[in-house]
Amino acid sequence: MASVTFSSVDKVFGKDVKAVNGLNLQVKDQEFMVLVGPSGCGKTTALRLLAGLEEASGGEIRIGDTLVNDVPPGERDIAMVFQNYALYPHMSVYENIAFGLQIRELRGWFWQIGHLGETRRIRLDIDRRVREVAAMLGIDPYLDRLPKQLSGGQRQRVALARAIVRKPKVFLMDEPLSNLDAQLRVQTRAELIRLHRRLGVTTIYVTHDQVEAMTMGQRIAILKDGVLLQCDTPETIYARPANQFVAGFIGSPSMNFFPATVRGSVLEASGLKLPLPKDHPAAKEGRAVTVGLRPEAIFDAALPSALKPTSDNTFEATVDVMEPLGHEYVAYLAAGSINMVATLDNATKLREGQTAKFVANLDELHVFDAGTGDAIR
Ligand SMILES: Nc1ncnc2c1ncn2[C@@H]1O[C@H](COP(=O)(O)OP(=O)(O)OP(=O)(O)O)[C@@H](O)[C@H]1O
Ligand SMILES: [Mg+2]
Repeated sequence: MASVTFSSVDKVFGKDVKAVNGLNLQVKDQEFMVLVGPSGCGKTTALRLLAGLEEASGGEIRIGDTLVNDVPPGERDIAMVFQNYALYPHMSVYENIAFGLQIRELRGWFWQIGHLGETRRIRLDIDRRVREVAAMLGIDPYLDRLPKQLSGGQRQRVALARAIVRKPKVFLMDEPLSNLDAQLRVQTRAELIRLHRRLGVTTIYVTHDQVEAMTMGQRIAILKDGVLLQCDTPETIYARPANQFVAGFIGSPSMNFFPATVRGSVLEASGLKLPLPKDHPAAKEGRAVTVGLRPEAIFDAALPSALKPTSDNTFEATVDVMEPLGHEYVAYLAAGSINMVATLDNATKLREGQTAKFVANLDELHVFDAGTGDAIR
């Protein structure tokens, strides 16, 4: 097991596609790190650089203390699970799992007639490891089947077994759940987390799904256009996003944003005034900012579960659309010319077309620079 360190790593494709741009990231030994970001932000490229399937254009990559830029992929002791997990179709589940081990561990002995005893010992050891891992992932009843005789979720687990059985220093997983249906994804997500707890192997997990990132990552690294925007625990990223992009990307429904101007101790938007917290660094008369408020920080003022309405935190809005989700409503509100989304307790009596009072949790007000999008705090 080992830590992983990217130091100022660049990857340029062709003349000017900067797939990875000055990446600095340290993954701790035994950590479960999630790389998340929109399509094309460089997630797969970062994994491929670490696995040695791509050569870095600049910077240093380390596994443990070893600089691996020039170490061939086969010697990096990494196992990667790809999005399309490509099992060998003509091999049984057993053979799929055992194949890599046989190649690695028997290769040196194969032609040496004098070492039959040794090859037999290695074969028995491989057999024991394959059966152990198969049992751990619940695929032991299917060892004799071909991949086409399995469900998608079972095939997924065979691909995982193939990676785990090698006991690598680092696991790389590139959207390994994307081929599964919603229910199986949730189930496999939990299985992967349990597996990580049990094996404690340093893992870098790629997804574009922020829910997957939040639920699985001990820390999350958010990339955009090859640049790392923020790396922290899910809780910190949710509560203290470094910029507007991260704020909008993490959380569902997304954070509401609206332009405002600082007037004295008030954030003035068209049709809405919110107080700027005392001594806030954004307090500069006339400064243009973007205000961020999460849907879950807005309450129906009529409900006892709401925050206590005061003159500061209360505003009036009209309900455009109400989407019932059962445990709550997603409400689309219009406050003057500002549109926002609120998740409301399912006890709400509000219906579409009504105008009512809403309470905002001012402790969860975010302020961003209108130009750079950086959080001001
Ligand atoms: N072999 C290549 N040649 C040229 N450009 C490439 C190559 N591989 C990737 N790119 C480009 O590098 C950027 C990052 O690609 P990458 O595959 O790492 O994105 P990703 O974050 O994994 O996206 P997705 O979520 O869609 O899988 C993209 O703009 C992509 O077009
Ligand atoms: Mg990718």
